[in-house]
Amino acid sequence: MKRLRLNFHDHYKEQWKFNHGMFYLGFKTIKYFQMKRIYLLAGLLFAWSQHACSQSQAKILLNPAHAQQTISRYIYGMFSEHLGRDIYDGIWVGRNSSIPNKDGIRLDVVEALKRIHVPVMRWPGGCFADEYHWKDGVGDPSKRPHTINTNWGGVTETNAFGTHEFMEFCRLVGCDPYIAGNVGSGTVQEMSEWIEYLNSNQESTITDWRRQNGQDSAWKVPFWGVGNESWGCGGNMTPEYYADLYRRYASFCKNYPGAPLKKIASGPNGNDLHWMETLLKDIPHWMMWGISLHYYTVPTGNWQHKGSATQFDENEYFSTLKRGLYMDKILDDQATLMNRYDPQKHLALVVDEWGVWTDVEPGTNPAFLYQQNSLRDALVAASTLNIFNQHCDRVRMANLAQTVNVLQSVILTHDAQMLLTPTYWVFDLYKVHQDAKLVPLQLQSPYYVFGNDSLQAINASASIDSTGNLHITLVNINPHQSLPVELNFYEATTWKFLSGQLLTSARINDCNTFEHPNLIHPTTFGDVRQTGNSWTVNMPPKSVVLLTWKK
Ligand code: AHR
Repeated sequence: MKRLRLNFHDHYKEQWKFNHGMFYLGFKTIKYFQMKRIYLLAGLLFAWSQHACSQSQAKILLNPAHAQQTISRYIYGMFSEHLGRDIYDGIWVGRNSSIPNKDGIRLDVVEALKRIHVPVMRWPGGCFADEYHWKDGVGDPSKRPHTINTNWGGVTETNAFGTHEFMEFCRLVGCDPYIAGNVGSGTVQEMSEWIEYLNSNQESTITDWRRQNGQDSAWKVPFWGVGNESWGCGGNMTPEYYADLYRRYASFCKNYPGAPLKKIASGPNGNDLHWMETLLKDIPHWMMWGISLHYYTVPTGNWQHKGSATQFDENEYFSTLKRGLYMDKILDDQATLMNRYDPQKHLALVVDEWGVWTDVEPGTNPAFLYQQNSLRDALVAASTLNIFNQHCDRVRMANLAQTVNVLQSVILTHDAQMLLTPTYWVFDLYKVHQDAKLVPLQLQSPYYVFGNDSLQAINASASIDSTGNLHITLVNINPHQSLPVELNFYEATTWKFLSGQLLTSARINDCNTFEHPNLIHPTTFGDVRQTGNSWTVNMPPKSVVLLTWKK
């Protein structure tokens, strides 16, 4: 393939050839042999198609001048539930703890979350949200009722961490709160009063109560979930029934002055198109800001035996990546459906629970969902975030499940110790994409072949930030082979390569432990060279790379 030239016309020509490489080749061949040797063309086509599958180099074509769509920073959101040791231990240690804290909130965790610029935090669940009664969690902590967390191990919920503590946590981290209200077992009045408590500055009995509890001005929570997984733990409803309930509950989720609510309907389980279509048909669109979607990557695909977080072979590695990459298909399908009912793209798709879900660590409470986090998780996270970026016209928020000590966490704690997982470092690398403009790209990649199956080895996304820097995040999921990636971008020679960072490790199941907390972390990466008008990057096996250029 010819190198890109500098003029714009040629860029498009090159793009066309990139898209239609086989036909271009055929066309040129026909011309050359003046239609005399069609059989040669057939041979060439066959050879090209074989080459496309077996090529050992990936090619990416992108034009930074075409960056338009904003990658919402909210795609890089987190989710924290009253589940296992996420809130209690992970975030909340109590005011009398010897672990450094601000009003009971552990400071090491706050600092770590600040570093990755967490933009939004979803709380209090999850399944817990539909049995949470907010009034239990405000007022004098010693007088708060104790309840039972029936979803997650039947443990006693002290309600020590409630509305004020959550809002303080968000303030410390510098993120926006996203609260999931209780539709499953709560009343319309209860939900409506919670919003008044949070968002109104008007004098009323409810807002006076907030003032007595130490908060003078309204917090102005921007994001509001009307129920959670209403097709499952949130009430086992039909979509038709939920759509009716949504209309009723949402009618009483009021906008107070200066605090317009972005209301989010409880959307499909994975790729359930019927659920999505019913909501799109039965709920007036002006009543919603977005519709949620939950999808978890279960390594074996079997919820009874999900597979270990660290003890897995290549078969399970491949299966995990395959199931993780399925997010792309889900978003394609759901976005296509949404486009039919909402062609102007007013509604957001909010992937407010996603991540790898494995068996719990041996010896831990099965209901606490505590799992380790390996390089494999980092590759799934990085690939998923590339997918979200590519779908940023529709996906305007996503929340990793979950933040600390539960499922695919970014942080694990053990008493006073804290470690950052490989997934954390992916969020650290990818924060450059937050609120940047997506640079559309076209990608040709070799395959990672395993047994009779294969996956595209390289995935990527690119953006331009507000300072004009160009960032490309690349993932090579092939655990054995390093792969050169040729980057062709318009006016490539006018861009100056600034920096590269690499996340990888010796083995796919390596992880950070309390004994070796820094085994996996980003390192400087410089295997990038300019060749004429393109750049070639040598992607190590099983790696994530961030590259930055400036004009
Ligand atoms: O994240 C764990 C659980 O997964 C959440 O509580 C629920 O919404 C989902 O099924």
